[in-house]
Amino acid sequence: MMSTDSTPHGTGSTTQAGIPAVSDRNSLSVGPDGPLLLHDHHLVETLAHFNRMNVPERRPHAKGAGAFGTFEVTEDVSQYTEADLFQPGKKTETLLRFSTVAGELGSPDTWRDVRGFALKFYTEEGNFDLVGNNTPVFFVRDPMKFPHFIRSQKRLPSSGLRDNHMQWDFWTQNPESAHQVTYLMGDRGLPASWRLMNGYGSHTYQWNNADGQRFWVKYHFINDEGVEGLSNEEAERLAGADADFHRRDLYENIQKGNHPSWTLYVQVMPYEDAKTYRINPFDLTKIWPQQDYPRIKVGTLTLNRNPQNFFAEIEQAAFSPANMVPGTGNSPDKMLLGRNFAYADAHRYRIGTNFQQLPVNRPKNEVHTYNFEGNMWFDHSGTKPVYAPNTVEGSTWSDEQGPVDNGWETDGELVRQAYTLRADDDDFGQPGILVREVFDDAQRDRLVETVSGALSDGVQEPVLSNAFQYWKNVDAEIGQRIEDAVKNG
Ligand code: HEM
Repeated sequence: MMSTDSTPHGTGSTTQAGIPAVSDRNSLSVGPDGPLLLHDHHLVETLAHFNRMNVPERRPHAKGAGAFGTFEVTEDVSQYTEADLFQPGKKTETLLRFSTVAGELGSPDTWRDVRGFALKFYTEEGNFDLVGNNTPVFFVRDPMKFPHFIRSQKRLPSSGLRDNHMQWDFWTQNPESAHQVTYLMGDRGLPASWRLMNGYGSHTYQWNNADGQRFWVKYHFINDEGVEGLSNEEAERLAGADADFHRRDLYENIQKGNHPSWTLYVQVMPYEDAKTYRINPFDLTKIWPQQDYPRIKVGTLTLNRNPQNFFAEIEQAAFSPANMVPGTGNSPDKMLLGRNFAYADAHRYRIGTNFQQLPVNRPKNEVHTYNFEGNMWFDHSGTKPVYAPNTVEGSTWSDEQGPVDNGWETDGELVRQAYTLRADDDDFGQPGILVREVFDDAQRDRLVETVSGALSDGVQEPVLSNAFQYWKNVDAEIGQRIEDAVKNG
């Protein structure tokens, strides 16, 4: 008698070659109790594909999720940029991925961390990516330090454990981190949801208008519902109760038609101002005070569509600060210049050489590149020439010469040296203002509680004393309160 595990022939599934799969429940054996057979191609393919289901996770920003939406320009900023996506009335499809930085793929969404805010705009002039965070500054200002920073936030190679001592050792040895660490230890380090936080391009970027004028810009996506945080206790409870709390919140709200939105503002600095401004405007650890460069409204970003396939559309999404469209550009910010290399290199390794052919990464406009072939290439170039220049009739290639639209003047010896200091370029001035003038009493209390809690959990001398001094440099009173709280337990 046939067992109930037998399946009628050809009822549905196929192998990946499209051949009827025969059975998804029984492997081929010599009699019901006998050995399995190597020529059971469907079993071999099923097991082999399963073993290859994972791609490497992103090294930083592994845990996250995202959604698609629309960016609509509601104002006229054409005096500053000729970029098509920023022209009045323009609507552009976008993808926004949120993330934590240090945690791995399965880590809780509510661990204290900076949150990633990575945007892809599918413009008519190619993909424009703004890969930012929920804070306007960063921990370091030289790309050489970035891998050291991330390693100090991840796990000890010996125990595989995260380690407060290592984190605070790195921060206190790099005083330029103080501004970002103050944000991180404040309410921004525990957003209530991704729908209730701001996003920042953080770096200084360039804009160019149709007359060839250049401007320096900073992007601010200000949440239309405001910004909310979680308490330490609530975040800790959620980390255990629902590790995917933020991912679920975003998905369910978009599914219900509750579409989160942000208003994009830019701070614009005339090109020449940068030469004499009292703060180095390209230092990623500093903000530009709004009394000097007020926010100018640009438009609205709304998320309105969930991914249909998380792996294909979010896990394999590839964002890169190097993706800049005409009318936008780089700046002398060393971090931004380092990032120009780092992301596509990560994508070639993490996803594959031709990651840009995947639907989520593919621009909506036509691609005309001389790069071809490599793993998984399928876009047939037909009889088009594969080299330039060429004499093939109808063939076009790019050939601009001379100064570039979005460049800047630079001169001098090659050196290994930090930025030249300007009048207001100390590392502790802006975090001190943040603590004294932006935080209220309750926020200052929470800052003391959070920092003293972290320092009481495994941080040893000399790092402990260094940390007390670091906070006294930010603000003498806060530093003393932190030291007292740690010492009095
Ligand atoms: C992700 C490198 C600084 C925001 C990544 C990834 C790398 C990387 C390799 C993973 C990319 C992938 O696998 O797809 C660097 C380097 C930096 C730097 C070398 C400094 C030199 C920053 C800064 C910000 C930032 C300053 C924010 C202002 C992000 C975000 C992601 C990310 C949001 C996640 C992107 C996504 O959702 O796919 N970074 N990063 N990074 N980085 Fe950075």
